[in-house]
Amino acid sequence: MEEGLHNLESEALTSLGDIRERKALEAWYRSYLGKKGAITEMLRGLGRLPAEERPRAGQTIHRVKERLESAYRGRQKEIEDIGQLSESVDITLPGRPIGPGCLHLSTKVLREIYAVFAQMGFQIYEAPDVETDELNFELLNMPPYHPARDMWDTFWVSDKVLLRTHTSPGQIRAMREFYPEPIRVILPGKCYRYEQITARSEHQFFQVEGLAIGHNITLTDLKGTMIFAARQLFGAERKVRFRGSYFPFTEPSVEVDMDCILCEGQGCRVCKHSGWLEIAGAGMVHPVVLENGGYDPSQWTGFAFGLGVERPAMLKHNIDDIRHFYRNDLRFLRQFG
Ligand code: PHE
Repeated sequence: MEEGLHNLESEALTSLGDIRERKALEAWYRSYLGKKGAITEMLRGLGRLPAEERPRAGQTIHRVKERLESAYRGRQKEIEDIGQLSESVDITLPGRPIGPGCLHLSTKVLREIYAVFAQMGFQIYEAPDVETDELNFELLNMPPYHPARDMWDTFWVSDKVLLRTHTSPGQIRAMREFYPEPIRVILPGKCYRYEQITARSEHQFFQVEGLAIGHNITLTDLKGTMIFAARQLFGAERKVRFRGSYFPFTEPSVEVDMDCILCEGQGCRVCKHSGWLEIAGAGMVHPVVLENGGYDPSQWTGFAFGLGVERPAMLKHNIDDIRHFYRNDLRFLRQFG
């Protein structure tokens, strides 16, 4: 009998382990521990045993019965847990699609600008974001304590190292690399200024610097370049004007304005009722800067400009807050995908 009981127990435990749902579990209970179950039958059969064997056999059957009952309760709990899990996770729901990524609006606008200047033979020249005071200021004709430095509130990394406040230090780098060849490059990149962040100004933004150095380059070339770029980027009917300005590294210096694309020059909120929008600072490369780059100012002339990226993008896409560019909000970014 003992051997039969042992086999019964191991068979019962094995089949219990395979059970995954409540119905099968109840059937299992009935077949072993129910009123007509195998264990119950065995207990009933005790009466047929000789009286002296009954207590020992009874004890053995009871122990098996207890073990099976506790295994049953354990499995019951496991099945309930699984049940709860499958109720909260509906495995029949379709998955959440992961869409393809897209280019950031700034990247798209930068690429449009590259394409426009590529048509005029400008190649891309990149310079580092972390610059020296020497390149960002000194070699651009701003010695230490020059008051014009106040035009660029600066993030300093150390006494002599800073985050470039404009892409103009790339002019010196390009000149030193290209000398003695003529130059026609654009220098795109991030600039940083220690400024209050508002809807109109960020402390990080993109600029595209332009630099052309040659033997007969004049202000007219700068003007033609600016007009062509404005018309390519904002429409063939654009008007461009130059306003006298000041930068230590250009002489003469100008601000480049384009007629407002929203009101067509009539005057609106965006152009502050002037009809004009500023798109770049520019000018003829200052002789001191040419010299610092290695070019003899009696032989060479050149023009340079610094074009904003986010502001024109805002105009084109009717974006009212520059901070959207750096918020990483996918709902904003996807609109331009
Ligand atoms: N670097 C100037 C600025 O950021 C713009 C500029 C570039 C002006 C090149 C003249 C020539 O304000």
